[in-house]
Amino acid sequence: MNYPVWNVPYIGSGLVIGIVAIVHVLVSHFAIGGGLFLYLTEKKALREGREDWLKRLPGYSKFFLVLTGVVGAMTGVGIWFSIGLANPAGTSTLIHNFVFGWATEWVIFLVELSLAAAYYYTWGRLPSGVHVRLGLLYAVSSFLTLVIINGILTFKLTPSSAWLSVAGTGKEAEHFFEAFFNPTYWPSLALRTLVCISMGGVMSLVFFSRLDSEKEGEVKRGLIRWASLWLLPAFVFMPICFIWYLSMVPESQRELLSLGISTIGVGAFTQVTRLTLIAILTTATIVGVVYFLAFLYPRDFEFGHAIAVLLLAFLATAATEGAREMLRKPYIIFDYMYSNGTLKSAVGKCNEEGYMVHSPWKINEGMFESGNLRGSLVMELGRQMFLGQCVSCHTVDGYRSMRDFLYDRDETAIGNILAMMRKTGEGSPYSKFMPPLVGTDEEIDALKKYLVSLTSPSKGKGVMEVTSGERELQGIVKGN
Ligand code: HEC
Repeated sequence: MNYPVWNVPYIGSGLVIGIVAIVHVLVSHFAIGGGLFLYLTEKKALREGREDWLKRLPGYSKFFLVLTGVVGAMTGVGIWFSIGLANPAGTSTLIHNFVFGWATEWVIFLVELSLAAAYYYTWGRLPSGVHVRLGLLYAVSSFLTLVIINGILTFKLTPSSAWLSVAGTGKEAEHFFEAFFNPTYWPSLALRTLVCISMGGVMSLVFFSRLDSEKEGEVKRGLIRWASLWLLPAFVFMPICFIWYLSMVPESQRELLSLGISTIGVGAFTQVTRLTLIAILTTATIVGVVYFLAFLYPRDFEFGHAIAVLLLAFLATAATEGAREMLRKPYIIFDYMYSNGTLKSAVGKCNEEGYMVHSPWKINEGMFESGNLRGSLVMELGRQMFLGQCVSCHTVDGYRSMRDFLYDRDETAIGNILAMMRKTGEGSPYSKFMPPLVGTDEEIDALKKYLVSLTSPSKGKGVMEVTSGERELQGIVKGN
């Protein structure tokens, strides 16, 4: 239909999104928690007459403004850019469903960024009561950005039965609020709020750990202790909120987790479990390190310690976001659209009439002539099936490498895998993490031939190399 395939060699488009997203998640949660930290810390310092604290806050708010305003905003745009390329059909669904939500979000972003700048530039220029209130306004507006984006993010895993019942009919907008305040909305908001508060603490530890223990020992002791307290809410409430969240996840997806726990070992199912375990362990380590190093011995807490905590937070974020993504597999929008852009409702049609003609990707130009595949293009058809249905999760030679998965398998074995992949639901062990393979027998056979060619290194062509079929096709499209 429309979209060119974005094929990222070796790492795959999913990992590109993942890397940008992890940085963004850290910084954007800090943008909320750090704002609250600035507001409450300024207020506390004023109330308790702590001049020495007040002197350190303008520097901190500059660090805050630069980090959130530059890195936060850039990675935010980076996510849009990469998801728009990797998953245009899914991104388009999100945009069309939530136009009004996005519009509101952009306005709040503008308000938020302006307030962060105003807060920094008015230190010492406004009466302190007014300045504190500016901080409060910032904290509220930045929290509102989460209130909105959280609805759209959680929608992908639990789009709500009301929305699903009209999905694809053009009437989705009537169920905006059911889709927005979907089943995982509230537990996810609670979890993310806890993460925000923790990030406010972690980044403050990073910033204030640079205070000199000798010359500024007293102020360092106060600020490091105060910052480490910010991890307490997560420590107390995270487990409860996590269980609440899981209870709202669809049964079929929750199984991915329990299945992984009972069969820890190999296989994709357990990736969710492994990632969840990593997240729990790193979070527990963070709490331990912060308590024993920062809270008990605040003066001796050094920059290196703080960076270690930050790296652990990075790991925990990567693991949780990864687990959240895996939990939704094989869908991009649960029960509606698969990760490769194929609609669940289009599976039957694709099997009968062909994947190429119904694919959301612009990959079928010139392949067929009055319904028949042009003679020599079988390999090219297989390669395009691979581009259309597999590269959103696999690469040829890198991350989840197809060559590695297939290296010791012959044509019959590959044929068996593909036959299994065509089944949906209980019929296939793959259906838990891969979309059903769709297409006519002719198309599937072409995919098989292409995959077989990958297993023999001498003649195997990667997706990036221009094949003779592709050259021929370009000739056909150009009309010469
Ligand atoms: C939604 C993401 C996704 C899509 C799309 C996808 N796969 Fe997979 N595939 C996975 C995951 C996840 C695994 C398991 C990886 C692991 O075990 O590390 C996997 C594993 C495999 C394996 C190894 C299975 C085994 O039993 O060893 C093969 C073969 C495979 N995929 C082929 C394909 C083909 C062919 C396509 C396209 C028609 C495809 N996949 C599309 C996610 C996907």
